[in-house]
Amino acid sequence: MSRPTSVLIDREAARRNLSAVRAMGGRARILAVVKADAYGHGMTAMAAAFSGADSLGVATLEEAACLREAGWKGGILLLEGVHQDADLAPAAQLACALVVHRDGQLAALEAWSGAPFSCWLKIDTGMHRLGFLPGEAAAAHQRLMACAAVAGPPVLMTHLANAQQRGHPSVRTQARLFDEVTAGWPGERSIANSAALLSHPDLHRDWLRPGLALYGVNPFEGEESPPQGLTPVMQFASGIIAVRDIPEGGSIGYGGNFTCPVDMRVGIVAAGYGDGYPAGDLTGAPIRVAGIDTRVLGRTSMDMLAVDLTPIPAAREGDPVELWGRGVSVASVARHAGSLPWALLCAARLRAARAELRAVEGGGAAPGVSAEIAGATWREA
Ligand SMILES: Cc1ncc(COP(=O)(O)O)c(C=O)c1O
Repeated sequence: MSRPTSVLIDREAARRNLSAVRAMGGRARILAVVKADAYGHGMTAMAAAFSGADSLGVATLEEAACLREAGWKGGILLLEGVHQDADLAPAAQLACALVVHRDGQLAALEAWSGAPFSCWLKIDTGMHRLGFLPGEAAAAHQRLMACAAVAGPPVLMTHLANAQQRGHPSVRTQARLFDEVTAGWPGERSIANSAALLSHPDLHRDWLRPGLALYGVNPFEGEESPPQGLTPVMQFASGIIAVRDIPEGGSIGYGGNFTCPVDMRVGIVAAGYGDGYPAGDLTGAPIRVAGIDTRVLGRTSMDMLAVDLTPIPAAREGDPVELWGRGVSVASVARHAGSLPWALLCAARLRAARAELRAVEGGGAAPGVSAEIAGATWREA
C-alpha cells in the first residue's frame, strides 16, 4: 500500500457490540441493519460479525443476494420490500422477508402463487417516508392476514423520525399512535432503531432494528462519544505526507478559508473527499496526529487535507493520522461537516483500501494506525 490511507474494520468490536445490544434489549430479537455495505464497514464481514443476530436488514435484492452468496443462512428483511412485482420471484429464491408499505406490494402478494413470505407491515405514524397511514393500516392488515402468500401474522412495524433527539415529544406521539392503531392485532411489534434502543426501553418490543449502534457510533444529536459499552468498529486512518512551516498571514488550501494568525507548522494528510472524508471547510474538526489531538485547517481537497501541528511540534512525515475511529469521534467530524455520522461512515470506502483488524496479540500495525489499536495485526478485507 503506497498511500497510508485505509479504512480499518474491527470485526471483533462489531461482534461485542452485538452482544452488548442484545444485553440491552432483554428478550427482544435483533434485526441488524447491514444495508449500504453495512454503513461502509463491508457487508459480508459484518454479517459474519453479526452471526448471532436474529435477522439482517437490507435495502435491495442485490444486497440480499450478496449475503446469501457469502453464506448467510439466517433471515433477511428487505426494508423497502420489493420495488417491482417481478422482484417477488428472486426475493423468494433468496428467502427474504418483505416489508409491505404500499398497496401495489399488497396486490403483488395477492397475485403470488409461490411459497408464502414472512411479511412486516409498515405503518406510517408520522415519519411520512414509507408506510400505510393510520387510517389505511387496518385494511392493509386485513388483506395481509387473508393473503395466502403471507406466512402467519405480519410483524407490525413503524419507524421513528426524531428518536435521535433525546426527549423529542414526537417519539411518544408516534409510539402511542402505533399502539392505538395496532391494538388487539396479532403479531410481533418493532419500533426501535439505535436511538430508541438506547433511550426508550419501553419501545424495545419484540424486534429491535439497530444500525449505527452496532457500529459503535452515537446516534444522538449533540453527543459525540460512543454509547456506553459500545466500541467504534471503523478506524479511518492516514498519514502525514508533508510538514510545512507557513508564515503568519499565509492561507491554507483552495479558497484560503483559513489564514495563519501567526507562523504555523501545518501537516498535509493523504486523505480527502475522494477517500470519503467530508468535502468543504472543516476548520476545527478534530483529528489525531501521532496520538495527539489537533484540528483540521481550511477546505479539504480530493486527496489531501491540512492539519494544525501546533500541539505536535515534533510531527514528521509518515506520522499516523486518525481521521475518525476510537480516538476521534465520527459524530464530531460529522457535526463540523454539517453532516451525519451515518453519511460519513457510508462514504469512507470510496477509494481507501479496507483492511480488517484481527485481534491477534503482538502483531504489527498497518501504516497509519494510531497508537491505541496498534499491536494487533491487519489484513486486506
Ligand atoms: C426501517 C429502519 N429501521 C432501522 C434502521 C436503523 O437505523 P439506525 O442506524 O439509526 O439504528 C433504519 C436505517 O435507516 C431503517 O430504515
